[in-house]
Amino acid sequence: MQNSSAFKKRIKRRISGRPHVFFAVCPPGLSGICAKEVARVSQKAEEIFSDKYNISNINVLPGGIEFTTRLKTACLANILMGSATRILMRLATFKADGFRRLEEQIKAIDWELYLPSQTLPDIRVTTHKSRLYHSTAIADRIKPILHDRLFLKEPPRHYDVTGSAAPPPQTLMVRGENDRFELSLDMSGTPLYKRGIKKKIVKAPLRETLAFAILTRLDLSENDIIADPMCGSGTFSLEGAMMQCALPPGTFRSFAFEAWPGFEEKSITHARNRLMAAARTDMGVQPLPHILARDLDQTAIDHLKQTCTRHRVFQRICPVCDDFFNMTPPPIKNNQGVVVLNPPYGIRLDENNDITSLYKEIGHKLAADFKGWRTGIVCPGKKEFHALNLGLSTMPFFHGGLDLYTAIGVIGR
Ligand SMILES: C[S@@+](CC[C@H](N)C(=O)[O-])C[C@H]1O[C@@H](n2cnc3c(N)ncnc32)[C@H](O)[C@@H]1O
Repeated sequence: MQNSSAFKKRIKRRISGRPHVFFAVCPPGLSGICAKEVARVSQKAEEIFSDKYNISNINVLPGGIEFTTRLKTACLANILMGSATRILMRLATFKADGFRRLEEQIKAIDWELYLPSQTLPDIRVTTHKSRLYHSTAIADRIKPILHDRLFLKEPPRHYDVTGSAAPPPQTLMVRGENDRFELSLDMSGTPLYKRGIKKKIVKAPLRETLAFAILTRLDLSENDIIADPMCGSGTFSLEGAMMQCALPPGTFRSFAFEAWPGFEEKSITHARNRLMAAARTDMGVQPLPHILARDLDQTAIDHLKQTCTRHRVFQRICPVCDDFFNMTPPPIKNNQGVVVLNPPYGIRLDENNDITSLYKEIGHKLAADFKGWRTGIVCPGKKEFHALNLGLSTMPFFHGGLDLYTAIGVIGR
C-alpha cells in the first residue's frame, strides 16, 4: 500500500498534470456539431480555469471527435456538450496477437491511477480481424489483473458524487482491430443524453443529443418562441429551455469521472458554479418567451408538468393537452419562432397506419399557420420528407435503429 502523498504526486504527474487523448462519441450525422462543441469547450476552459492550456488536435473520426487536453477540461466537456453520447479517455494502444502479450500490456498500466479502488469496471470487448477474437475470454484475462491492482493497492475510497450515494458505473472499453488493441475508459458513466431531468418518460422519446443538434441547426436564440406541439416527454422543450438560458446540458447529473482518483473536485465545482452564475436562470426582470408544449396524450402532459418542477428554468414551459391541428400560434416577428416536431412514426409506435398522409397534413398545417417560423421536423424517410411539401432541406441522422431525416428550414420561404 502506498502512502497517500506519494500517491497524490503520482496522480498529478501522470494523470491531472499532463494532456491525454479523449474521444467524444456522437451519433452519426452529428460530428460537425460535435466538433464545434469541442472547440467551444476549449474557449470555456480557458475562461473558467484561467489556463492557457486548452484543447488541441481536434480530429473528426468515424463515430466521433478525438481531442487532446487535460483531464479537468475533458470533465468540463462532459458537462458542456449537448451532442456527444459519451466521452472516452484513451488509456493505451498496443499490438497483441496472443493472451500472453495482452496480459503483459494490461499489467503495464497503472490502473490504480485511473480507476477508483475497490470496484471492478465493466469490461466491454469488441474485436475485428484479430487473432484474439473471443470477447469473454479477453475480458476474463483482464479482470484478475485489474482486481489485483484495484483491490490491493489502495485503501477504500469514499464516494461523494453529486446526486448519488452509490459509486457511478465504470466501464473499460477494449477494441481490437487487426491485432491492435485500444483501451479506453468511459468518463461519462450513464450516456450523456440522459440529462438527469425527466422524472418519467412516455414512449418513443427523442434522444436529447438529437433534439440539441436540431435546435443548434436552427440557431435557437433566447428571443425565439419555441413551439413543441407533439411534445411527448418534452425533450425539445427541456433542451430548448436550457439552451436559451445557457444552462449546460450536464448541470443536473453526475459522471463516472467524479469517482476517479485524478478528479479535481475543486476545479470542477468552481466550473459548475461559474456556469450556473452565467446562466440566465433569473426569469424575473425580462422574462424569456414561453415554450408552447402540446400533446394529445394527457399522461405525457402530466409527466412533463412534473418534470418542469425540477428547476425554475423549466417553468417557462407550458404543457397543455391539445391537438396540434387545433393550435393557433402567437404572431412572431423576424422569424423568431421555432416549431419542432417529432411525430409518431415507424416501428416504435403502432397507432399510426398512414404515416405519409400524417406528414402531408402536418405540412399543410405548418404552411397555413406557421409562416415565417423556423422548423425542424423529424421524418422516418424521404417519402415523409417529401409529403411535407415545405421546400425544406434535410439533415440525416440515425436514431432508435432507424435512418431518419430532419426537415430543416423556414416555413413559407
Ligand atoms: C414520437 S412521440 C414524440 C416524442 C417526443 N419528442 C419526446 O421526446 O418525448 C409523438 C407524440 O406526438 C403525440 N401526438 C400525435 N398526434 C398528435 C396531435 N395531432 N397533436 C398533438 N400531439 C400528437 C403523441 O401523443 C406522442 O406523444
